[in-house]
Amino acid sequence: DKGNFRHFMAKEIHEQPEVIGHTLSRYIDFGTRKASVPGIETAGFDKISRVIISACGTAYYAGLVAKYWFEKYARLPVEIDVASEFRYRETPVSEDEFALFISQSGETADTLASLRYCKQNGARIGAVVNVAESTIARESDVVFQTIAGPEIGVASTKAFTCQLAVLAALAVQAGRIRGVLSEEQESELVGALAEIPGYAVQALKREVEIERLSQSLSKAPNALYLGRGTNFPLALEGALKLKELSYIHAEGYAAGELKHGPIALIDENMPVFVIAPYDGIYSKTVSNMQEVAARGGRIVLLTDARGAAESGNAADDVVIMPDVPEIAAPIVYALPVQLISYHTAVFMGTDVDQPRNLAKSVTVE
Ligand code: M6R
Repeated sequence: DKGNFRHFMAKEIHEQPEVIGHTLSRYIDFGTRKASVPGIETAGFDKISRVIISACGTAYYAGLVAKYWFEKYARLPVEIDVASEFRYRETPVSEDEFALFISQSGETADTLASLRYCKQNGARIGAVVNVAESTIARESDVVFQTIAGPEIGVASTKAFTCQLAVLAALAVQAGRIRGVLSEEQESELVGALAEIPGYAVQALKREVEIERLSQSLSKAPNALYLGRGTNFPLALEGALKLKELSYIHAEGYAAGELKHGPIALIDENMPVFVIAPYDGIYSKTVSNMQEVAARGGRIVLLTDARGAAESGNAADDVVIMPDVPEIAAPIVYALPVQLISYHTAVFMGTDVDQPRNLAKSVTVE
């Protein structure tokens, strides 16, 4: 049932404040402001030498964000790869490692094969899945379920942000277990996570503006997405969403990579989406925007009020997001990124919930 929405995707985008809240309530304690992930002992965060993450598509991008979090908040090295490569790489895996597989369906063939490879090599296995009775869930030592509810649209939206919510709680608790985060730091981070449903509601209020921007974008043959830090995987996700839904060719890049090649693509026909909340490296992103602006590229900047004030007028359009703590940013900024591809696809007249050539669950290799 699509409720009052035209597509399942729109409904699922709008469900996010609620389902992120449900998911968080399983993994953090809102009262004590502590992460409290059921089954976390199985991961052995106090003993392991490394976390391995493997997944496909959007779930892989959630894993890429988590890599930044595990490194920063828990000082844990992370190995991550798309499952279709990981499973064939013959990479060394050992018993003192924790391998984490992320999958909405829990049935993705390559992800399952990567899981089995790690299991054979003696690693502890954890899964972030949305479907509790899935094969990946069954074959894991510990399951961290996302409480996103059934996701019908082929494009992953609410599953992605719920995966991020679980992964953030995991990384924060790992940080406490490993003695990296103090109680105050943990409480600040958990407090930030607890605010995400409210920030998501505010982010959705930008929809009319995004719809208008998307109308002009729907005429472009190509688009670029740029971001740094945890917003770099979001740039990759934005490009994937635009490709799969609107069939417009798009690429995501780490903003600092621009001058190593993709800047050659910039001209007045190239829309460039920059995902950049104001943070410690914001000024670097402003330089990248100036390089794009100097070549006539059309910049759409997703940032907060401070970022808008310090953007040096490089952007043609600015979508002003709520001011959010760093750990919340990739989750909150995922919403406008999803809305851009949704509305562009609607203008293009493509089949939003069932894009051509795609299957919801890829159970073949
Ligand atoms: O069910 P899974 O999370 O394992 O699926 C992984 C990918 O197939 C999936 O995220 C795909 O990339 C989506 N179409 C993205 O919107």
